[in-house]
Amino acid sequence: MKRRSFFSKTATGLFGLGITSNSWANTADKKPFKVCATIDQNKVSFYSEVINESIKVVHIADTHLFKDDERGIPYQKYSSRMAKAYNETRHFQTGEKTNPEEAFEQALAFAKKEKADVIALIGDIFSFPSEAAIEWVQSKLKATGIPYIYVSGNHDWHYEGMEGTLETLRDTWIGKRLLPLYQGKNPLMASHDIKGVRFLTIDNSTYQISKEQLQFFRKQVATGIPLVLLVHIPMYAPGKGVYFGCGNPNWGAATDGGFNIEKRPKWPESGHTETTLNFHKEVFEAPNLLGIFTGHIHKNSIEVIKGKPQIVADDNASGGYLDIDFLPMNEKDLKLIN
Ligand SMILES: [Fe+2]
Repeated sequence: MKRRSFFSKTATGLFGLGITSNSWANTADKKPFKVCATIDQNKVSFYSEVINESIKVVHIADTHLFKDDERGIPYQKYSSRMAKAYNETRHFQTGEKTNPEEAFEQALAFAKKEKADVIALIGDIFSFPSEAAIEWVQSKLKATGIPYIYVSGNHDWHYEGMEGTLETLRDTWIGKRLLPLYQGKNPLMASHDIKGVRFLTIDNSTYQISKEQLQFFRKQVATGIPLVLLVHIPMYAPGKGVYFGCGNPNWGAATDGGFNIEKRPKWPESGHTETTLNFHKEVFEAPNLLGIFTGHIHKNSIEVIKGKPQIVADDNASGGYLDIDFLPMNEKDLKLIN
């Protein structure tokens, strides 16, 4: 299958300006913000009347860095499979040989050249929580001078075969290794305001959403501020497989083909919690949510659910990243959609 996806213009309802928190106390009767989104290979343009200034985001997911040093030796029995998984890759566009470090540096160089407002790191930047790899990423990010956002994927905190539930392993290895990347923000749910748009990071790397995360999301919707959701695992869309695994009605023990290989607890017999399914529903009903950016699948795709675009990035291990511009609409374009 060709790796490129194409997306023509989409438009949903428009909500005017002059938003205040109070006016958004009840979102049920609010009209959704109108969004026009276009994709040209990895270049994404998001237009909306509620965007006042252009914002450039370089979105990176699934680098799968495996760099390690002597500090990782005691953990090799948990890291060995993933340490070999992406040592040499093929660039998704050119077919040339590449590797995760080279691909990550190229994405950062692009962000620097284009003077990006922010670099969004949306999970599986690491194949396991290697101290050497985490330090390398921190130093490379610092050298760009560009602010960055980080949220974890299912591999960043996972040492395969280590005892524990997904939730406790995530807590442990975020606390021990990944924490500096969050720069003081809550690792499981955080907001990042950039030029009038609020980027939400919600960690769904266990495939599930907690009650606290759902409450956090509801509060963000109630502000009426234009939102963009950043999650590692894509939100389920009709026709998509089980790895589109957040809110997927088919997700659960019966469809878990990876637990033996990844040496982790099997997904639950009962599938998603009600909270996770409610989160899925509420994401696509949120009138002020402009769109969703994600990763995990290692293959670019676009899903539109109830007028809201979700864009999945190609894996950075193979050179992929998204060049996203959030843009105000000019007068002529506004006339087209109003
Ligand atoms: Fe992943």
